[in-house]
Amino acid sequence: MFDRVRLRNLEEFEDPRMVPLGGHLFGACFFLMKLLPARFMLERAVERGQLGPGGIICESSSGTFALALAMLSVQNDYRLLIVGDWALDRNLRRRLFQLGVELDIVETAHPTGGFQLARLERLQDHLRNKPGSYWPAQYSNHDNPTAYSKIAARFIDVVGPVDCLVGSVGSGGSMCGTARYLRLLFPELKVVGIDTHNSVLFGQPNALRHVSGLGGGIIPANVDHTQFDEIHWLSAAEIISAAHDLHKKHGLFMGPTSGAAFRVARWWSDNHPGKRVVAIFPDEGHRYADTVFDVAWVAANIPNWTRTRSEEPITVPSPGVKMTDWARYPWGRRGLSEVLGDGLPPG
Ligand SMILES: Cc1ncc(COP(=O)(O)O)c(C=O)c1O
Repeated sequence: MFDRVRLRNLEEFEDPRMVPLGGHLFGACFFLMKLLPARFMLERAVERGQLGPGGIICESSSGTFALALAMLSVQNDYRLLIVGDWALDRNLRRRLFQLGVELDIVETAHPTGGFQLARLERLQDHLRNKPGSYWPAQYSNHDNPTAYSKIAARFIDVVGPVDCLVGSVGSGGSMCGTARYLRLLFPELKVVGIDTHNSVLFGQPNALRHVSGLGGGIIPANVDHTQFDEIHWLSAAEIISAAHDLHKKHGLFMGPTSGAAFRVARWWSDNHPGKRVVAIFPDEGHRYADTVFDVAWVAANIPNWTRTRSEEPITVPSPGVKMTDWARYPWGRRGLSEVLGDGLPPG
């Protein structure tokens, strides 16, 4: 039988702390944002009979979704298999092992779909070999964006009418889900998504990327392009230095995708005085202490780290242009094919 109480053991960690950052800008600081969609997806799976007591969960993830599933699985006696890649750092691997996760690390990227597609292909092998196992499929499962109603409600509780929502886009669940709910009340809401150079999500050609958590080599079904008014692309160096700034200026020790949201939201807020802006900060910085927050590691691994950072974005004529610095494109709530025409990246 569905043990709702146990699945909700970690519910107190789901709500973000809403931190005022000056002007009308708020940071929604999550301990681990993915706990919310992970719990919601598992609850729905149990209700639909897709996941039973002692069941096996298989998922592809190299980051926070894996950790969220691991925390929930150990509380609820599920077995969990994660297919990951290089982005699964040593600290996170240790935590997953401690939580009893079976890990399969993909070493080679798919020739066109990168590591993300290589992971998904490996996952299919595991699903075939473990009949009856449940695949949450965060990139395409509608329960992922649907989980965010309570986050939209929390933003309204604290901020009142929200004028602008800013955040990094990975699976698309958090930004598209929260935006949909907020727009039921505030149809004029501006939604600003953040991607990174060489990510296909909003039309960049696929190539090597140096940060995880946002962007990707394939376009997730949960990215609803028509939700976005504006897209920004940041380099890994810009994202990491923004995470350092968030720590130095506000004492908030958060991950790189939070840094990205801070950089863009601060700029948007300064350029729209009086508008209430919420930036989504998805996880804390501890996982990145040996990488993003270690300047020796950053200097050795992140291209153009010493280059001077731009104070503001360059507005590009199309999303597919070669980018080296902070770029911005007025997306205008259009679909991907409307913006890119025939030049669609793989989806
Ligand atoms: C740290 C971090 N930030 C942001 C995101 C993007 O969130 P979403 O998948 O809801 O688009 C992810 C996605 O995995 C993440 O791990």
